[in-house]
Amino acid sequence: MLRIDPTGYKRALRERRASSDPRFASGVWRLLELLPSLPADSVVTLGEGNVPLYDSPRGASYAGVDGLAYLHLGMNPTGSFKDLGMTVAVSAAKAAGARGVACASTGNTASSMAAYAARAGLPAYALIPRGRISKAKLAQILDYGAHIVEVDGSFDDAFAKLASIEGDLAIVNSTNPYRIEGQKCAAFMMLEARGWRVPEWVAVPGGNLGNSTAIGRGFREALALGLIDRLPRLAVVQAAGAAPFARAFETGEDLLPLVPQTRASAIAVGSPKSWRASLHEVRASDGVVLAVDDDAIDDAKGAIGREGIGCEPASAATLAGIRALRRSGVVGANADVVAVLTGHVLKDADASLRIHEGFRSDAHAAV
Ligand code: F0G
Repeated sequence: MLRIDPTGYKRALRERRASSDPRFASGVWRLLELLPSLPADSVVTLGEGNVPLYDSPRGASYAGVDGLAYLHLGMNPTGSFKDLGMTVAVSAAKAAGARGVACASTGNTASSMAAYAARAGLPAYALIPRGRISKAKLAQILDYGAHIVEVDGSFDDAFAKLASIEGDLAIVNSTNPYRIEGQKCAAFMMLEARGWRVPEWVAVPGGNLGNSTAIGRGFREALALGLIDRLPRLAVVQAAGAAPFARAFETGEDLLPLVPQTRASAIAVGSPKSWRASLHEVRASDGVVLAVDDDAIDDAKGAIGREGIGCEPASAATLAGIRALRRSGVVGANADVVAVLTGHVLKDADASLRIHEGFRSDAHAAV
């Protein structure tokens, strides 16, 4: 197990921001010692991981808590948190001499894969559920030059098709351990931005459950390294129409796959692959899993937008989830919470237009 001097490591992380090593322009690769070791010339980076932590006084009062901030992972190069894991997964694929990369996706994984594969000069194959991904994500995948395979059905059907793909391709879904290693860095980014003060709760949206697994692991590693002295509690928030994990958490039984139905298309996953690993993290942190309905997600998305921040619907599930947990008394009024926003507002413009349907151009507005 890696041993570090916590104070020295915190200083080294600050100093690396000023380094001319191109890897250290990345908030992921600055944490080099915590990542799988790969040859420096295999590293494929777009400068991911330099994301803001936004204080949100209005979000705090919306949720009914004392302190709320957003770690906005939608501010990554392709507009979602996937870049944190993809930089490591595509670098590892390049180092291993893979002939290409492939994934199944509700859109963000595929956009990110397409961009990093393009940087690496590797062909990429995106299996997407036909008609169920946002236009912006489809547009990105096309722009970055990936091959698109449309599959009838949901994300889960696309994922099942992956097994039949032939050729020496690296699968870069979050079942790929390199993805988790990269995404765990979000925990360190959050802590560093807070001066290593641990929040009481961290809310994360849950779909295929790779991200909650990764972030939970990141906090546990930070604890084991002596960078922090306790763990935050994880709240994994699913959309009510795609909440098999929330149900399994409630019943204590195995997860029962379902056909997902939610307007938060990014997290429309009925058979999440990492549910056991995510459950391990939720339990280790004394956390919870819950579901919020699409109307609550829309309402929270509106609130995040009106504060000048904005995000895609799946991300807004976090604020809706914190509000619900405050109402049920699980989260206390004086809680200090960080919500992880996973996707940029422009990832799903149709969702914004739907929420604000019926808006009128106001010729008489005082401008
Ligand atoms: N938020 C956004 C914006 C997402 O795109 C996803 C997953 C999640 C949250 C959930 O994260 O799956 O690790 O639990 N998107 C995947 C994709 C399914 O294909 O882009 P998770």
